[in-house]
Amino acid sequence: MATEKTLNDLFLDTLKDIYYAEKQILKALPKMARAAQSEEGKAGFLQHRDETQAQVERLEQVFEMIGKPARGKTCEAIQGIIAEAEEIMDEFKGTVALDAGLISSAQSVEHYEIARYGTLIAWAKQLGLKDAVPLLQATLAEEEATDKKLTRLAESSANVKGKGKAA
Ligand SMILES: [Fe+2]
Ligand SMILES: [Fe+2]
Repeated sequence: MATEKTLNDLFLDTLKDIYYAEKQILKALPKMARAAQSEEGKAGFLQHRDETQAQVERLEQVFEMIGKPARGKTCEAIQGIIAEAEEIMDEFKGTVALDAGLISSAQSVEHYEIARYGTLIAWAKQLGLKDAVPLLQATLAEEEATDKKLTRLAESSANVKGKGKAA
């Protein structure tokens, strides 16, 4: 009989999923920074790239806490979100709407991360992984702050510029 999988297995699987996702994001953010037209957008993407590096390290600490090697598991969701971002960079290159599109892609990434970290925190609490909780919460706070910053950037400039000149 197959051994029954438990919440521990789900926690590990999800940890691997977000570890893979963060590493993909780490590669995508510099590309998004290069593509962004506004200085504020560029700086924002680069700042979040540095945060993401630290988030990867926090995940490695969590792997260590549960005595497992830090290993990613292909996350098709993040691959899809990043593929869409690349499509926007390509199709809206040189247009007034590019930054609005980049921000919308970045927000899909943040929302995916927010969902994952929210779940991991709940499961870590359930599993009594007390030391993992604050690490995951620190990252969740960064993802939420990034999401809010992106909303501000969209509303204050990118969406307005994206409308183009009045007809
Ligand atoms: Fe992240
Ligand atoms: Fe993020």
